[in-house]
Amino acid sequence: MLTIGVDIGGTKVAAGVVDDQGQIVAHTLRPTAADRPDVVAQTVAEVVGELSAGRDVEAVGVGAAGFVDETRSIVRFAPNLAWREEPLQKKIAGLVGLPVVIENDANAMAWGETRFGAGRGQSHVVCLTLGTGIGGGLVFDGRLYRGRWGMGAELGHMQVVRDGRLCGCGNRGCWEQYASGNALVKAAREIAEVQPERARILLGLSGGTIEGEEVTEAARQGDTASLAAFAELAEWLGQGMADLAAILDPGCFIVGGGVSRAADLFIDRAREEFARRLTGREHRPFAEVRLAELGASAGVVGAADLARHR
Ligand code: BGC
Ligand code: NA
Ligand code: ZN
Repeated sequence: MLTIGVDIGGTKVAAGVVDDQGQIVAHTLRPTAADRPDVVAQTVAEVVGELSAGRDVEAVGVGAAGFVDETRSIVRFAPNLAWREEPLQKKIAGLVGLPVVIENDANAMAWGETRFGAGRGQSHVVCLTLGTGIGGGLVFDGRLYRGRWGMGAELGHMQVVRDGRLCGCGNRGCWEQYASGNALVKAAREIAEVQPERARILLGLSGGTIEGEEVTEAARQGDTASLAAFAELAEWLGQGMADLAAILDPGCFIVGGGVSRAADLFIDRAREEFARRLTGREHRPFAEVRLAELGASAGVVGAADLARHR
């Protein structure tokens, strides 16, 4: 029996038909109308309609980039999308006529990676997705940790800088303002503005507003500003993992999300920083930092599997 997984991120809606081995048998991609909740629900219904045509689909799992309540039906709040008390489950279920389960997008990704990807066989997994924001997902002893009200593992909103950069959640200094894809771009833009001579390659590539792919490309070509932005991200990532390890003592971290496609530009440094900052480091074993294996599909596969085991 097949299920459909849908991953609603800050910029893209990705969806796939997934079998019980976590294999995607068909998939599709649409842009997210981040500021229009009704359009988002409609888009999900459309992709489900498209993917389920001529197939025996049992249920739909939806990973949503926001705070999903304990009944797994309402997105109470989304720092980077326009959802406020959004009855997403009801809306989508009404449109598709199939059982629908909503889950936080990073939780879904963590579930997918633990079942079928880099976390297979691991008992204490912390997943991080670096994209528009930072998503977090915790899977302990084969169970997704959701907290008392479904809103646990909002790891991107740890406040790592007192009165720091303003976050989409309304607080200041959240981790996702320092180690996400958006943060990477922000850092590169800042350096390019203040020290354009360090960003010659980057400015040449962008020819206007600097975007994420350009920072990656420029860094690969040796652009100093872009390399500095990646180094900054790596340090913040490592520090955050050290703090998380102090609390959770995981067996592995799994790093995914759009930014992880450029992992060669930051992951070693993040590992070093993690090891350097971890409390008690000389007297303890500590987590391996792995890259997500399912790549951009982790959320889709995880959401589909959560729908199967609903
Ligand atoms: C949101 C999370 C989400 C993450 C990744 C954060 O800003 O608060 O709910 O999982 O971004 O999309
Ligand atoms: Na989460
Ligand atoms: Zn925040």
